[in-house]
Amino acid sequence: MNPAYIFPNQYIDKAQKLAKLNQKNTVVWLTGLSGSGKSTIAKSLEQQLFADNFLSAVLDGDNLRTGLCNNLSFSETDRAENVRRTAEAAKILLENGFIVVVALISPLAHMRQQAKDIIGAENFLEIFIDTPLNVCIERDVKGLYKKAQNNQIANFTAISQHYEAPTAPFLTIHTQNQTPQETAYFLYQKILPFVKI
Ligand code: ADX
Repeated sequence: MNPAYIFPNQYIDKAQKLAKLNQKNTVVWLTGLSGSGKSTIAKSLEQQLFADNFLSAVLDGDNLRTGLCNNLSFSETDRAENVRRTAEAAKILLENGFIVVVALISPLAHMRQQAKDIIGAENFLEIFIDTPLNVCIERDVKGLYKKAQNNQIANFTAISQHYEAPTAPFLTIHTQNQTPQETAYFLYQKILPFVKI
């Protein structure tokens, strides 16, 4: 690149990045119980976006809690901080042109409202992964429900701590009777108008 075309002391404009990526940016925020399928759907959604030449980033609670949020517990205060940090990270990625897929229990309405305020309502798509508690308990992929029921884990969502279902999400997804791929494809089609130029 000829240095004459490089402008020092200037960030690249978001619009330029979006034009280069040929996409619109948005945050797809998945909320739901532990074991509801958020991570699986996030992975499949990212695969479908990538296959269609969209660039996304996934922020998954399971991963964030090993790094950015590794000093946080599952108390209500710490969960609120977990959601806040994740929203701030999502905003940075959003401002850089990414489609951001967030998979976080984010159990209480005020936490999700704060995330929406940080990110901006116009770029925040709240998706409720509405898998009933009894199904999550039945699946119990990580064996955590069993431990929570035996009081081996405190503050467990929907067992010893409250989960508030969203009252007006952009979309509610039922994961029973369809594969994660089918669920993610349904979601993909719904978000397409928000990412396609
Ligand atoms: S959030 O409530 O702060 O949004 P987050 O999505 O980051 O939660 O993390 C949830 C994951 O942490 C669950 O999928 C589960 O694997 C694990 N986990 C460990 N302890 C708990 C707990 N007390 N409640 C819920 N999830 C827990």
